[in-house]
Amino acid sequence: MESSQAVESQSILVIGAGELGMPVLRNLARKAKQHQGATISVLLRAATVESSDPVKQRDVSEIRELGIHIVTGDILTASISDLAKIFAPFDTVIGCAGFSAGRNTPMKLAKAALEAKLKRYFPWQFGVDFDVIGRGSPQDLFDAQIDVRDLLRGQDKTDWVVISTGMFTSFLFEPIFKVVDLENNMVNALGSYDTKVTLTTPEDIGLLTAEVVFARPLIRNEIVYLAGDTVTYGDVAEKLEKVLGRPFAKKEWTVAQLMSELAQDPDNHIMKYRAVFAQGKGVAWPKCDSFNERKGIDVTTVEEWIRQNLRSS
Ligand SMILES: NC(=O)c1ccc[n+]([C@@H]2O[C@H](COP(=O)([O-])OP(=O)(O)OC[C@H]3O[C@@H](n4cnc5c(N)ncnc54)[C@H](OP(=O)(O)O)[C@@H]3O)[C@@H](O)[C@H]2O)c1
Repeated sequence: MESSQAVESQSILVIGAGELGMPVLRNLARKAKQHQGATISVLLRAATVESSDPVKQRDVSEIRELGIHIVTGDILTASISDLAKIFAPFDTVIGCAGFSAGRNTPMKLAKAALEAKLKRYFPWQFGVDFDVIGRGSPQDLFDAQIDVRDLLRGQDKTDWVVISTGMFTSFLFEPIFKVVDLENNMVNALGSYDTKVTLTTPEDIGLLTAEVVFARPLIRNEIVYLAGDTVTYGDVAEKLEKVLGRPFAKKEWTVAQLMSELAQDPDNHIMKYRAVFAQGKGVAWPKCDSFNERKGIDVTTVEEWIRQNLRSS
């Protein structure tokens, strides 16, 4: 599968340097050293580059130390043409800002990628399988992701790659999600104890994204599935008990119950996520078929994540 426009000396722009963007940048910078002519840049808001916030200052210093070029811009206020001008000097753009700049940004960025005539565009789709979930799911943000897929599939000038990661592993343990309730030693299973979920850490997503970007033959116009682990909520409770050495009670939050709670609070994003994951469709795939497993790349399992992050709790 040779590309008509094979990307050799890649110039790559990453949009955003948050929880996902930073690991993507670190791994791209590491891989770029092995590929002559490859350059890595990041698009950041000018206010972020100049920020006195210690976390942002630390990230900006690390970005500079990695030899990554900083391009400034605001994806919320810029027009599609403004963004296309920013993208045009690059052959690959990777979206790592997600919905942090609003519901309409993924489509705006995708249109800018096409206007800029990029060779390859990686939209921010580091999540679940939106095609399998389909339109009209409890999480309406997912419809915007399907719109982006339709736009990219409907043209043949810019190659695209979607990287499906499942849920970020850390998100499963977020107190606000209330699936894993550490304080009360409780797992609230979304759907049922047997409902499955695929989980990958942002660090592993960064490592694997860099592998996908530099893979030969070139990966183009396909969905790459990653999987740190694919587990049931029952498995999560068992692993918590095993690693933390204390019992965890389990409760099933059924789809009907979660949908009725969402109906009472229809704009609640956390409730939307709970309901769509409870439906169990498009949110899990076998780890044995994943890109990481096929390449023999070791990634963090849920049990390892618990051991590394929760053992002292
Ligand atoms: N699949 C999952 O389970 C999962 C889990 C967690 C999050 N997510 C989603 O993943 C996406 C990205 O995640 P993340 O955790 O990396 O987000 P994040 O840490 O909030 O980072 C977002 C990045 O985008 C930048 N950004 C925001 N608004 C911008 C603007 N107007 N112009 C330019 N840059 C802008 C931010 O820069 P500043 O420093 O300037 O703000 C930051 O670098 C989010 O949409 C989030 O909802 C998915």
